[in-house]
Amino acid sequence: MIDLHCHPLPGLDDGVRTPEDGVSLLRGLRSIGFETVVATPHVRSGVWDNRVDTRARAHEALGVPFEAARAAGVALPELLLAGEHMFDDVLRDLLAKGEALTYPGGGAALVEFGYDVIPLRVEVQLWRMAKSGVRPVLAHPERYAPLQESDDRLDEIVGAGAWLLLDVMSLVGAYGRRAQAAAERILKRNKYVAGCTDSHKPSDVDTVNTALTALGRAAGSDGVQRLMVEGPRRILAAARKTETGARG
Ligand SMILES: [Fe+2]
Repeated sequence: MIDLHCHPLPGLDDGVRTPEDGVSLLRGLRSIGFETVVATPHVRSGVWDNRVDTRARAHEALGVPFEAARAAGVALPELLLAGEHMFDDVLRDLLAKGEALTYPGGGAALVEFGYDVIPLRVEVQLWRMAKSGVRPVLAHPERYAPLQESDDRLDEIVGAGAWLLLDVMSLVGAYGRRAQAAAERILKRNKYVAGCTDSHKPSDVDTVNTALTALGRAAGSDGVQRLMVEGPRRILAAARKTETGARG
């Protein structure tokens, strides 16, 4: 499996605090079947103003115990770097300057909304982003109150070109009953392109493991394969396409 959304880089946001916890989280994810994990620190203005340089420093700090563990024979996933951007003017600026923390290759980027309010005309902005060659991948749509209430709004967002990323922990109530019900509904309507763990600490791994069982119950082993292997692969491939000039 591939995890497109995770917080193992130390000290950047509300993810792990120490490099050792980062390694412990990655080791845990590897032990339940994740061969690739993408670190996606928050980029939220005035709260977590992460950029390429802050991410590089945290990555370097993680690298020390990561390499030591690997040298000692500990199984660890391949680690890729991206970011989780609040969908706002700062992201638009960063995209324009080519400085957004996109998925490797630059053709897709993980975005999130605030939980209670979705920005005005968000569909137009998502459409513009997709049209510019960077596919918006919307993190955990099931957690946003306006989308919990309306399939229409969600369908407009999908129609605008956003790809939906399920946080599997939603399926076991980690974010409350509304998010769980919304996740089950979106899953049933077959609107997710992929799943992720959005894990923030080593102890999340147990919950993720339970959640994967719940995903299997809801979507079958085909569904698990589609959401945790093929969908993420498709997103990473879309992101990398631009590297070979296939933007469009
Ligand atoms: Fe997230």
